[in-house]
Amino acid sequence: MKKEIIELIKELEKKDAEERIQGLPVSVRMRNITPDVGLFLNILVKATKSTSILEIGTSNGYSTIWLGLAAKYNNGKMLTLEVDPRKVTMAKENFSRANLEDTVSIIEGDAKESIKQLDKEFDFVFIDAEKEDYIEYFDLVFPKVKIGGIIVADNVVSHAEQLKVYCDHVRANPDTQSVLVPIGRGEEVTLKIR
Ligand SMILES: C[S@@+](CC[C@H](N)C(=O)[O-])C[C@H]1O[C@@H](n2cnc3c(N)ncnc32)[C@H](O)[C@@H]1O
Repeated sequence: MKKEIIELIKELEKKDAEERIQGLPVSVRMRNITPDVGLFLNILVKATKSTSILEIGTSNGYSTIWLGLAAKYNNGKMLTLEVDPRKVTMAKENFSRANLEDTVSIIEGDAKESIKQLDKEFDFVFIDAEKEDYIEYFDLVFPKVKIGGIIVADNVVSHAEQLKVYCDHVRANPDTQSVLVPIGRGEEVTLKIR
């Protein structure tokens, strides 16, 4: 990875850590994934040779950079969805700094509406928006995921009680195999098998 991109990643990690220490409200904070999950997602996208990636919940683009770098490595494209215009502006600036403008596109607006408008298939989806919407996102996106594609959902350990219904929902689907990977805040990794 280029020195400037490592520095950008470190800068965003510092900002997120400081915001958590300051106890800023959730609506203001960047709420980024942990660095180990960033690397995990990057490795998973490369290992699966995914070329069409969707992220739900961009924030300032920290997780998008990890995913987007892997998409670029695979000569693929990534789409990310974010409702907050302030975060969209920050994310676009970070994509530019990471030289990902040609790889990553962002749609501003409610992801539920954006997903319905999407006329394409994905081989990798990352869900990281509001927890109460996870099942709705899964159900909206699942028909657009290729067989052999993967859906990863963040926070299933940090918000275990709230997201139990999500894990039960994806594991009860006969067309999936799904497992909790206990890194960072907990990742539910779901494979679409048919
Ligand atoms: C946990 S943060 C995402 C963090 C980001 N994935 C990262 O690790 O860098 C969740 C984001 O989802 C966004 N969000 C919440 N509801 C949304 C919706 N209905 N449509 C699109 N984005 C939404 C929030 O504005 C927030 O930026």
